[in-house]
Amino acid sequence: MDSIQRDLKSAEQAPVVVVRAVSYAYGDGAYRKTVLANVDLVLEPGKFVVLTGHSGAGKTTLLTLIGAIRSLQHGCIDVLGMRLTAGSDRQSRDVRRRIGFIFQDHNLFSAISVFRTLWLATELQDRPLSRSEATGKALQILTLLNMAEQLHALPGELSTGQKQRVAVARALMNDPKLILGDEPTASLDHASSLLVVNLIKEHVLRNGASALIVTHDERIFEFADHVMRLEDGKMVLQK
Ligand SMILES: Nc1ncnc2c1ncn2[C@@H]1O[C@H](COP(=O)(O)OP(=O)(O)OP(=O)(O)O)[C@@H](O)[C@H]1O
Ligand SMILES: [Mg+2]
Repeated sequence: MDSIQRDLKSAEQAPVVVVRAVSYAYGDGAYRKTVLANVDLVLEPGKFVVLTGHSGAGKTTLLTLIGAIRSLQHGCIDVLGMRLTAGSDRQSRDVRRRIGFIFQDHNLFSAISVFRTLWLATELQDRPLSRSEATGKALQILTLLNMAEQLHALPGELSTGQKQRVAVARALMNDPKLILGDEPTASLDHASSLLVVNLIKEHVLRNGASALIVTHDERIFEFADHVMRLEDGKMVLQK
């Protein structure tokens, strides 16, 4: 094995995310509230990891820190080979565009069709997809989500669960090495939740990516390689 192959091999096996001693608090003085206290987490390639915990436990806060949407206060996070620390805002944009995000609210624009939404998601990449490439890719993903017929629909014509599936499809358009999902199955029935979970799992396995999915839905736990729980600002391994 030559050194380039060795480097590639070790890059494939390196953790996708390493969270080290991350603490985070909102507010100041008497209003200061610590949400994360010395949290550690490692996400290995090919893994589907569930993050759970009661409402207000800090799940979204941690997800936005890993996704470089929120600046760190203490500790550091390595994401896709890039290091985030307090004040490392320059790295943030690079990190963000390489992650597939599925947010708690779907963030779809009412005047933009499903196809345009998915195509636009590829625009920030080094090599944006052509219309026909984007159509092929969008249809491939939407078919797996039972949504191919909605390719040209506007968000207003979709049910809540369908919008949620568009948000999932959007997150996968760039073959991201990391998927961060905040309750991506919250408004789905069980059958649609399984479609979403299986699609993400398959993506993760096929691409050596990893997924960190926030959910309260215990039916999803059995599909996870690990289940992590945030409790009183600490990370606890549940499975
Ligand atoms: N911008 C903010 N300013 C002040 N406090 C905040 C802010 N955002 C979140 N918090 C508080 O931090 C705590 C953690 O919030 P976070 O959104 O991370 O929880 P969560 O685990 O995602 O909850 P949920 O399951 O309800 O989505 C909560 O107590 C919340 O009230
Ligand atoms: Mg949340």
